[in-house]
Amino acid sequence: GGSNKSNAFKLGFTAVARGTDDLLRVPTGYTANALYRLGDPINTTTAAYLNDGTDSAASFQFRAGDHHDGMAYFGLNSSGLAKDLSNAARGLLCMNHENITRIFLHSAADVAAGFNSAARVVAQIDKEVNAHGVSVIEVVKGATFSVNTLSGFNRRYTAASEMTISGPAAGDDLLVTPYSNAGTATRGTLNNCANGVTPWGTYLTCEENWAGYFKRPASATLGAKPAAAQNRYMGSGASNGSYGWANPAGGDTSGVGLYTRWDVTPSGADATADYRNAANTMGWVVEIDPFAPAATPRKRTALGRFGHEGAMPAKAVAGKPIVYYMGDDAQNEYIYKYVSTANWDPADANGGLTSGNKYLDDGKLYVATFNADGSGTWTELNIANPAIAAAAYGFADQADVLINCRLAADAVGATPMDRPEWADVHPVTGDIYVTLTNNSSRGTTGLSTGGKSKGLDAANPRYYNDGEGRTGNPNGHIVRIHESGGDPSATGFNWDVYLFGAEDDQFGNASVNISGLTDDNNFSSPDGLWFSQAVPGLMWLQTDDGAYTDVTNCMMLAALPGKYGDGGAVSVTNVAVPSNAGADQTVTTYAGTDATPATLRRFLVGPKGCEITGITETPDGKTIFVNIQHPGENTAAGDIAIPANYESHWPDGGTARPRSTTVVITKNDGGLIGA
Ligand code: FEO
Ligand code: CA
Ligand code: CA
Ligand code: CA
Repeated sequence: GGSNKSNAFKLGFTAVARGTDDLLRVPTGYTANALYRLGDPINTTTAAYLNDGTDSAASFQFRAGDHHDGMAYFGLNSSGLAKDLSNAARGLLCMNHENITRIFLHSAADVAAGFNSAARVVAQIDKEVNAHGVSVIEVVKGATFSVNTLSGFNRRYTAASEMTISGPAAGDDLLVTPYSNAGTATRGTLNNCANGVTPWGTYLTCEENWAGYFKRPASATLGAKPAAAQNRYMGSGASNGSYGWANPAGGDTSGVGLYTRWDVTPSGADATADYRNAANTMGWVVEIDPFAPAATPRKRTALGRFGHEGAMPAKAVAGKPIVYYMGDDAQNEYIYKYVSTANWDPADANGGLTSGNKYLDDGKLYVATFNADGSGTWTELNIANPAIAAAAYGFADQADVLINCRLAADAVGATPMDRPEWADVHPVTGDIYVTLTNNSSRGTTGLSTGGKSKGLDAANPRYYNDGEGRTGNPNGHIVRIHESGGDPSATGFNWDVYLFGAEDDQFGNASVNISGLTDDNNFSSPDGLWFSQAVPGLMWLQTDDGAYTDVTNCMMLAALPGKYGDGGAVSVTNVAVPSNAGADQTVTTYAGTDATPATLRRFLVGPKGCEITGITETPDGKTIFVNIQHPGENTAAGDIAIPANYESHWPDGGTARPRSTTVVITKNDGGLIGA
């Protein structure tokens, strides 16, 4: 027990009920307004969005992209000209556009013609590329917040924008492409999922599922070393890439490899077409200075290359290193942290990307091992570690370790997790919370891609059948890490499980509904997890689910978690695999009090087919911004000409195509959100 005794803040709203309506629902006494929808112009010269698939590819360089995801608010001063992080009435929103719902980007005729991944229409590729990336938009508070389309800060980064490659791997042979023979630049940031911020006021955008976009050969056609790398990051099979961007009909006539860059097949004699290393230029944490529109974003290679979900910092303390926590979101992947070499100097708070060069280009990358006794270890991924130096892959140097850090993490015995999504740090206790969204391969036989057992372990302790054909860990959980001595740079930690997801039909099953969830707070597939900075200890939890969507659309909950130890260590009986398969596991924890309706409560339910992901706030805690990603995504391509059959028409209603949207939420009495 003992949760939040030191925290006077209490959740004050009435829980929002589960539901499958095509609506965005917030508690009584709150208002949600659409702020920034797919296709909305960011300047005054771009036409209003037609939303019928005819808006041009080029125009998307000046429109909201698709699949809004992680975001952060950075205050501007009242004249709108300079940084003032304390201003709650005017600021810059930086926002990721992770992916696209392709059928809603193109005309009904184009959708009906089908998308041949071996011969794509060039204008369609260009539109899809431009609908990815990042937005920076100025928002100003009037009666409510709106986008200032006159702002000189407004801009888009797309999957074609120039990016600098920075840090210890920059210039490595594995990053050389025809675009940058020096291996120090690339085009595009891709599949930008969750995000982070820095103590010097810049934005971090994190490249997650980039691997699927690339055309690649069967790895068996490659040499041993590139084959091992491809197997670990992209799989062994040949592919045209998920959208066929490498295959414009008629070939790449751009003259600058605009499409060929998506094909990592070694091209032999034609060095100008050899983009075998292009995929190595994706999978990074990328730093953007919101206040410096002309500055080229920098890919920070010291933080490692993997399926980056997000990167959130420990509290910056003068004289101590800057520390980031990061999940690698794929089944049976790892949790990482980065510790800077330089110690934090508050004089660097306005240094922009120059401060980034100091703190994010030189440091140590660690990976987590979770022990059954509730202890854990951070192991540095360094070529000097004998286990890494001796790995069968054959690391050439530290740059290779950073570019292929999954393989290095395999070598040091890291713990494969149930899909690590967002990680954030409790601003009062310093505990780190990491969502593990779900894992259909947990508890099955065989080995993970990293060669580890998929069997149950204390940190990934659930195997059950949800009665709808899902097994493994269908509903996900949240692990909590307490650094040894409360020191973010420690190499040891303790951990417990904060919370287990469960559906309403599992309320009676104590080995599934371990956290004792109720109608007011149950959920499945936790993904977004973020601590308010204005209300210390207030955590927001967002879901990206397919298991519970038969009963409820995805949701956001407010939480007031306690501290490490309140959830207790986990023990698992009958961990044998596969003898356990088909049966629920018995999992025991201490009697956690972190998940009562008083400390965990449903705040929002989204429209049909959406995921709730991405949240930020004004610094007074009186406005939050939340992203509603891909409403209506289950609409069949064959129904594109039949609006009545769309899964969703949100937010515009009527017969409109649905749009990923940022919503602004305020309390009608002007109070703190969540109170
Ligand atoms: Fe893009 Fe792991 O969610
Ligand atoms: Ca996510
Ligand atoms: Ca997810
Ligand atoms: Ca279900």
